Parts: sequence; structure tokens; C-alpha cells
Amino acid sequence: MSDQHAAPGADAATLTIGILGGTGDQGRGLARRFALAGNPVIIGSRSAERAASAAQALGADLGIGGMANPDAAAAADVVIVAVPWDGHGDLLKSLAAPLAGKIVVDCVNPMGFDQRGAYPLAVPEGSAAQQAAAVLPGSVVVGAFHHVSAVLLLDPEVASVDLDVLVLGDDRPATDLVQALAARIPGARGVYAGRLRNCGQVEALTANLVSINRRYKAHAGLRVTDV
Ligand SMILES: NC(=O)c1ccc[n+]([C@@H]2O[C@H](COP(=O)([O-])OP(=O)(O)OC[C@H]3O[C@@H](n4cnc5c(N)ncnc54)[C@H](OP(=O)(O)O)[C@@H]3O)[C@@H](O)[C@H]2O)c1
Repeated sequence: MSDQHAAPGADAATLTIGILGGTGDQGRGLARRFALAGNPVIIGSRSAERAASAAQALGADLGIGGMANPDAAAAADVVIVAVPWDGHGDLLKSLAAPLAGKIVVDCVNPMGFDQRGAYPLAVPEGSAAQQAAAVLPGSVVVGAFHHVSAVLLLDPEVASVDLDVLVLGDDRPATDLVQALAARIPGARGVYAGRLRNCGQVEALTANLVSINRRYKAHAGLRVTDV
């Protein structure tokens, strides 16, 4: 792959995947699974040192790289955004240049927590993914991996992460490619779930999954029937 475009028809198996905020649970979990599947992976961080040590801690044998976020964005073909909702817009705005021409996969769930549990936050743009699209006019934004449990991704005892990954976006080759990426995680399947304007309810549904997890002591995911 060139370092400029994850072109339509690109083979998901050869993509270099960068992960902004890859030092967190979700980023490390996705990094681990994609590296195990054979993709080159680069963890990004606000600190190159933190990125390097997170990559090393996942296992030297996986060959995961660690860089500052702008370098990870520049070096990757496809870039996953795995930072907290706070700081999402500011970080992406600052990376508009290195992310131009790339597929940016947003898995961010704007959520609050209080005594009654998790609840979705209102987002002026409609969703985190739509905010990403607004601040990254040169990138193709896809929403995916919102419901994948970091605990399962990181657990070496979990061989198969059984769930469907809802993939949303306005660019068909890009959503096809991200569906193919999702399928590289054993047990997971990528299912197209609509245009980016429908990402808000997918992000918000995570609050329901958090409630399910609390009640049933589970790491719940979704399965779509009849497709
Ligand atoms: N955890 C899950 O199971 C899960 C599942 C699905 C989706 N998600 C979504 O994935 C995202 C990451 O989740 P997480 O649990 O991994 O979060 P996290 O550990 O709280 O944060 C991930 C990383 O983001 C960076 N970060 C923190 N604040 C930042 C800011 N203001 N600006 C830029 N970078 C910042 C930090 O890395 P550095 O300090 O190294 O820069 C941190 O290690 C969230 O939006 C969440 O909704 C999580």
C-alpha cells in the first residue's frame, strides 16, 4: 500500500493500521488483534514514549510500532480513532493534514456516567463520526468498532470475539474495506449499517450495552440476524 491512500479495492490484509490514542484499552485491544491477524500496526499517542512502551508491552513478537499521533497518522493507510470523546475534535483538527486522503475509522462513543449508569451525550454534529467528518474534510470517515469490548480484545484466553461490527459511512469502497478489516478479528463480522448520519444511534446504543454488561456481568456484543 502507498502511505497516501487506502484505495478502493485495497486488500485489508496488507493495510498498515494506525491507532490514535492506541495506548488505551480499546486501542491496545484492536492493535493486538490486527497484529495477530498479520497487519502492520502503529500505536499512536500524545507521547511517542508512551506509544513505544504500550507497543512493547503487547509483546515484542507482534512487531507493533509506537509513534506520536501525527507520525502514526502519516505512516498508516487506515487510521482508527480510539481516544475519549473529550479531546476528540481538538485532536482530529490538529491532524487534518496527515489524515488527508486516508480512511479514518471512528469508534468513539460520546457517553456520560452518573448514579443511574451510562447515557449518551448529545453531539451538535449528530455523532462523533460526523464531527470527525466535519473537521477532516480531506479524509473519508467511517464509523465502526463501537461495540467491541476492549476486555475481550485484550484477553489471550478469548480466541474468538463473536460479534457483528456495524460499519457506517458514505463511501462504499471505504465501508467495504472496513468490513473486511473487521473480519480479520477472529469471530467478528463487518455488517454495513448505513450512512454516517445514522452513526449517532450506534454510538448511543453503547450505553445500552454498558447497562447489559452491568446487569449480567458480561461483555455484550451485537449479532444482526438474517444477513
Ligand atoms: N474501552 C472499550 O471497551 C471501548 C469499546 C468501544 C469503543 N470505545 C471507545 O474507544 C475510545 C477509547 O476508549 P479507551 O477505553 O481506550 O479510552 P482511554 O483509555 O480513556 O483513552 C485512550 C487514549 O486516548 C488518549 N487520550 C486521553 N485523553 C485524550 C485527549 N484529551 N486528547 C487526545 N488523546 C487523549 C490517551 O493516550 P495518550 O495519553 O497516550 O495520548 C489514552 O490512553 C473511547 O472513545 C470509547 O468510547 C471503547
